[in-house]
Formats: sequence, structure tokens, C-alpha cells
Amino acid sequence: MSEQNPLILIVDNHKRSGQLYSVGLEAYVGATVVEFGLIEEAVEFLSSNSPAVIITRGLFDQRDAGVKFAQMIESGNLKIHLIVIGQTKVSIHQATIYDENVEVRDIIKKCASLLGVTAKAMAEKNVGEYYPIRLTLLCPNLSLVCPVFKKNADGEYVKFLDVESKIHPEILTILQSSGEKEIYVQAAHRLKFVNSISMFLAEMMADDRLSLEDTIMLSNNSYNIVRDSARRMMISPVTIQATEANINTMMSITGKIPKLNQFLKMTTSKVNFVFKHSLLTCFVASHIIDKMEWGTNDQKVKIAFVCFFSNLLLNQDDHILVHTKEDMDLMNLSEAERENIVNHPINAAKIMSKYYNSLPFGVETIVKQHHGNRYGNDFAQNPSTISPLALVYIISDEWVTLILKAEKRKLPLTRAESLSIIKNKYKGMMFQEIISALNELTI
Ligand SMILES: [Fe+2]
Repeated sequence: MSEQNPLILIVDNHKRSGQLYSVGLEAYVGATVVEFGLIEEAVEFLSSNSPAVIITRGLFDQRDAGVKFAQMIESGNLKIHLIVIGQTKVSIHQATIYDENVEVRDIIKKCASLLGVTAKAMAEKNVGEYYPIRLTLLCPNLSLVCPVFKKNADGEYVKFLDVESKIHPEILTILQSSGEKEIYVQAAHRLKFVNSISMFLAEMMADDRLSLEDTIMLSNNSYNIVRDSARRMMISPVTIQATEANINTMMSITGKIPKLNQFLKMTTSKVNFVFKHSLLTCFVASHIIDKMEWGTNDQKVKIAFVCFFSNLLLNQDDHILVHTKEDMDLMNLSEAERENIVNHPINAAKIMSKYYNSLPFGVETIVKQHHGNRYGNDFAQNPSTISPLALVYIISDEWVTLILKAEKRKLPLTRAESLSIIKNKYKGMMFQEIISALNELTI
């Protein structure tokens, strides 16, 4: 990074999200980014440096970092733009404030506009033949989307990791202990590489420092990234990696939260509605499988994949509440929207075929059948020729949809009422065991 790059200071006690902002800001805004995990360290840094922007988490370490930096800027009459993410008492006149579920791209766009950087200028910027990536931004086990180079003592760039290999943790240790600060990628690959790091970071949910709420938020962001790729029918190795990690996270969240109400509290307005539906359905279905005599862990893994993919291609939140043709008639839908809703199961299955061998056997079929129709292009009231796991999904989906519909329309709905609606709708023998299991779910 050259000296004239604008300086951005990030203050965040969540290392992963700090890294996530850094890597994007360096590549897309051309900024030099400095990160601190402690407020005091950042204050010390400010005594001798003048960044153009400070991005800080609001409340952390039981203090309001937003207020702290706003006061410093005001009392020192400093020309620094303050961005605060999450809860803070700072006024909107002192800072740009974002909800904690803000997407990285929104922060990047804001900084670009504050610094007068345009996408065109960044695309045309001469960054040399090789682009440096700070070693601290690399993640162990990242799969490489392009070759990676080191600079030797003669200033030559030497390839040391090939595309599709992984950055093993030992490699990072060796690089660090040999005093390397940066690795390089060919300039043409830099945005692709940076995107792969961003997606990988967004999936590093296993980090114990992240609260369950943060984990859900990061998972929500990566769900959006995968959904964008799926809509463009562009499934790259990075998308596949992000999908797998996201599904692992969905399963781990499901395992960690014992009660549905606790789950609902954590996934209020901050989470994309379709993702919230997927998470809740995964929670309910997984608990139903636990109660079934034939239930195995393998089936819980499969159902998590089904929950992730089933509604990935719906265009609007409300469309997830549609379960029948009559539901569609009550909405003001264009022909194209009706088409998209009716065919979203078969289209999701088509997207899944682009994942080649990385999906558990049979999940595409369940996704295709998730509205009860064998061919994935219609709704069915009383499905009888579909797999038992698809039936578990259908009942879980129906119940979650009833709950979310009531929540969205602010209607009271008791557990007894919701169960009675389901019992009346799904009367076949094959549903009875599943509905009994649902009845036992701890809410
Ligand atoms: Fe669906």
C-alpha cells in the first residue's frame, strides 16, 4: 500500500468482522486499513495519526466506543468521518450509524463515497502487476481461487501456492515466522481473491468470541451472497465452500438453542426473512427428526441442506408465505412472479445440480418435492408419493410459515391453534407420527 492511500481506522473487538471490513476496504476503496481490538490502542494511535475515517463497533467492552470517538473528534476539531456499527448513543449528526447487521458492501460503498473513490477509478487504478495482501488477512484453510506469490530477496515474484490448493495453518506459521508481512496475487485476480476471503470470513462462525446473535448475522450475510450467486446461476468453488460452511452453522445454531422462542427472539427483524424461515424450519425439522424412531444424524444433515436451498430462488419475502394457488390469488402477482413461485422448487434443484458431488445424496429430490409435488412445479395438498424426509420438511415449513405469518400480520396464534390447522390440512397416516413429534417440541 502506498503512502498516499487514505487511512481508515477500524476498532472492533470481533477480529473476524474487523478483517472482513479491512479486506474489502483495501481492495475496493484502495485504503490503508489499521485495525485495533481495544479502544485504548486506537486512542493511542489517534494521538499521532489522522485517519480519514474511523469505523467502530458501538458498544463493546461495556463502553460506548462511538461516544468516545465522537467526543475526541469534536474536542480536537478533527476532520475524521465516524462510522458506528451497532448500539450507540452517538447522534446522527456526529456519525453515520448502521445497524449491526449492516452488509459489508454498504460500509465499503459509504467509505468510497466519503473518500471520493468511484468504482471506475478503482477498476482503472494501476496497482502494478502483483497486488499485496496482508498476511493478517489470510485465513487458515482458505481454498485459493488463484495462485499466490511471494517476493524473494531479488524483488522477483515466485509462485508458492497454486489455484485450488489450501492455505494450511502450517504455511501461515512458516510465513509469519520468516518475517513475511504480505503475500501477492496477480493484479487481475485481486478482486476475485478478496471476495473469496470475504466469503470465507463471513463463514468463520465457529469462533467462540462471536455471540450466537453475531453468528446468525454473519450467516445471514453469507446466505445473501450465495443467493445472489444462485440467482445469477454462477456457482463457483467459493460459493460451494460458503454454502457448506453456512449449512454447518445452521446445524450448530440449531444444536445450541434448545427452545423455539429463544430462536425467534434472536432472529427478529435483523435477519433476512427468507433466511429466518430457513433457519427456523431447520430448527423445527431437526427436532422432529430427533423424536422419530427412524431419525438419524445423516437425515438431520440432509434436512439442513434442504432448508438452505428450498427457497433460495424466491424473489420476495412475502412469497415464502405462499403454500397454495389460493394464497397466490390473494396477492397481486404478475404472471412472471406466479411462474417464479410455482417453479422455485424445480429451479432450486437445478441450481443444486451445479454443486456436483458436494451435496448429500437425495437432497435435490427433497428440495424439488418441498411443496408436495413430485416434479417441483406445482403445489399439492395431500402428497403421498414423496420421501419421508420431504414430509418432515413440509410439516416443519407449514408450522414455521403459520408462525411467521401471524408474527408479520401481528395476529395472535396459539400453539394449539397452529397444530389444529396442520392436523386438518395433513390427515394421511404418514403425517401423524410427524405431527406428534412436532407436538412435543419445546417452545
Ligand atoms: Fe418453498
